[in-house]
Amino acid sequence: MTASNILPELQKHMPVTGDMALKSPMAYKATRLMAGAVNATQMALAEAYINGLEIPDATFRALLHTSMPTLFKHCPGLLAPYEWVLQESNQLAESSRELMQVQYDRPQTMLNLMLGDWPAIYPKYSTGFWEHGATDLETSQMHMIDQMIERLGIVDGDHILDFGCGWGCVPNYILSKFPNVQFTGLNLSHQQCKYMRQKMQDPESYLSSGRFTLHEGDLNEANFAEKFDKILSVGVFCHVGNLTNAFQKLASFLKNDGKVLIHIITVRIPNHMSSGFTHKYIFPHGRYWNHDAVPSHNSDLKTIERWYMNGMNYRKTLTAWLERFDASQESVQSLDYGMDYAKFRRIWRFYLLLLGTIFATYDGEYNGNGQYLMVHA
Ligand SMILES: C[S@@+](CC[C@H](N)C(=O)[O-])C[C@H]1O[C@@H](n2cnc3c(N)ncnc32)[C@H](O)[C@@H]1O
Repeated sequence: MTASNILPELQKHMPVTGDMALKSPMAYKATRLMAGAVNATQMALAEAYINGLEIPDATFRALLHTSMPTLFKHCPGLLAPYEWVLQESNQLAESSRELMQVQYDRPQTMLNLMLGDWPAIYPKYSTGFWEHGATDLETSQMHMIDQMIERLGIVDGDHILDFGCGWGCVPNYILSKFPNVQFTGLNLSHQQCKYMRQKMQDPESYLSSGRFTLHEGDLNEANFAEKFDKILSVGVFCHVGNLTNAFQKLASFLKNDGKVLIHIITVRIPNHMSSGFTHKYIFPHGRYWNHDAVPSHNSDLKTIERWYMNGMNYRKTLTAWLERFDASQESVQSLDYGMDYAKFRRIWRFYLLLLGTIFATYDGEYNGNGQYLMVHA
């Protein structure tokens, strides 16, 4: 055996580092055990905070700033708290109904105040783009959509599908720019669909132009009679557990010469990642795909261009959401959260602080957003 092939052989037997798919059974098992311990520690900290432990934000951030870089750089195998994170799930999207309850159908007044609600930019629950000089959340979201228009090559007259359309922010903004574009939006959140139905009656909104069609339903069951010129999916694939099935479905909705733009949180570590805390309290079965996962699934759609968007964009967005969340407390604390507001507030503060810190790790070079331009394979 030469020196050049000793290292990969050694790596196979070393737990915690490198690609989990290449580990020997012993190293894999040891990594799983250690990942369980890391997850239990994070959960203990989270639940102590949720139950009232006073940690100033600065201390909290400093704690994570010291531990996260080591995990990302040297021990990525510990960032997958459950085995399911490492594999494709059976269903396209798992735990959809529970996800709506735990996350998306929360009191809308609270969510809308946190995310921002302006005439052109409706609540948008995905990162803003701050690298073109935006100094506020609203502008960062406009810049984000402008960039997606360019990357997807949207032209007037396109019929576009928004797969997981949130509150209709992206369709509304794009419809305002192109007088002959038509949009179809799909979303399972009843509360977000209610918001869009109101806008569809509001003459000030482009959703009322007759060029927007809304489908309230699950990604798993999505089916459309027509085929689309373009498909956009923004911040949704963290809820998709099976890329193979998802791309097969999207390909069946796409015209022969159509294009798809997937925008998602991605991690530049060997495996996918999740967090026990977010799985339990924020996004059931949520996962962050490895940055190469989308292009490696190319049987129905293939990636023709890809971009990595630095995580500091999401860090700034999350900081703005946290400030807005804190500032709106008085007006939202009497809403129905199914639990004491003080507890709810702590869960969400932990979430916003944790994610903000993770995106800022190594100045955003490990955890950010991936964008993938795809066509029929
Ligand atoms: C993070 S938000 C992003 C929303 C929107 N694309 C944006 O950028 O503002 C994810 C969206 O996906 C929707 N979603 C998640 N799982 C879904 C499912 N199984 N079926 C349909 N919609 C789903 C949620 O309701 C939510 O609107």
